[in-house]
Amino acid sequence: MERTIDWDEGAVVTIDQRALPGACRTLRLTGVGELVDAITSLAVRGAPALGAAGALGVALSAHRHTGPGGLDRAAVREDAARIAAARPTAVNLAGGVERALGALPGGAAAVLAEARRLLDEDERINRSASRRAADLARLLGPGRPLRIHTHCNTGRLATVAWGTALGTIRELAAAGDLAEVIADETRPLLQGARLTAWELAEDGIPFRVCADSAGPWAIASGLVDAVVVGADRIAANGDTANKIGTYALAVAAHRSGVPFLVVAPESTIDPATATGADIEIEERDGAEVTCYAGHAVAPPGTRAYNPAFDVTPAELITAVVTERRVLVGGVERPAHEPTGSPS
Ligand code: MRU
Repeated sequence: MERTIDWDEGAVVTIDQRALPGACRTLRLTGVGELVDAITSLAVRGAPALGAAGALGVALSAHRHTGPGGLDRAAVREDAARIAAARPTAVNLAGGVERALGALPGGAAAVLAEARRLLDEDERINRSASRRAADLARLLGPGRPLRIHTHCNTGRLATVAWGTALGTIRELAAAGDLAEVIADETRPLLQGARLTAWELAEDGIPFRVCADSAGPWAIASGLVDAVVVGADRIAANGDTANKIGTYALAVAAHRSGVPFLVVAPESTIDPATATGADIEIEERDGAEVTCYAGHAVAPPGTRAYNPAFDVTPAELITAVVTERRVLVGGVERPAHEPTGSPS
């Protein structure tokens, strides 16, 4: 399928990311309960893809709750609240739900049309942010093809199409400006090793995967020209929540004077969240840490600490790049003012 997530005759269809890279299969979700399960189990994941799932989920609910008596708006609102609460950190999920709900007075067809508009916009937005971020990476780089470090999966699988940080990597590769990607495996669910590696291999982009704990050391050892990551929520002051492990990369990049770029759509910026301290961090089942590929790797009864995300303070971020702006510390950087390396 061309898009990671889409609408098809009364169903939400999405690539089942749990099965990759072993199998590429499609899920056909016809009920809101199934969609919520797909979100919580990370069959569909990544902030922009979650925004699309949220909007399509409301469309699915409106479709199912339209009968001879018309549209049961209260039932749709109940479903919408369940969908928005499925994962708390990525603001895009609640944002997609809200956007689709805004069309509810127009009926199920209007809700679906709004969800489809969100999907249609996604690739254009991602390509535009990627181009801008690639330009900035070149500007900050050493003037030869770049070695980029990335974390988690921010590619077409994490969006409707193209990707954000991985879109930037695609942009650089297409221009002959990319030497190599180092992708963290991204414990515990291996979005880097399973999904980013799959996408990079699909595109023929040179890459290596490393254990998360090797990432900061790769930066300190001079193997990286820029770190480029995505985001799940960007607070008004520029503090950024992203996949757990991002913070350690930012600290290492700051210490080594390596540019650290966040690439995200405007919809990931949440002006209602003042600082990173206000971002709810999803904590997931400890079994994701104490088990590996279905096998226990810790003694029975071991308790785990399993935050799905961390928050990188704005002062460690060289720039946040969106489809419209380059922001430093939450403030738009005028086009004529070059963005310096982290101090
Ligand atoms: O738990 P996940 O896999 O949904 O986490 C995804 C990330 O942290 C991504 O980096 C982020 O959503 C940006 S995707 C363009």
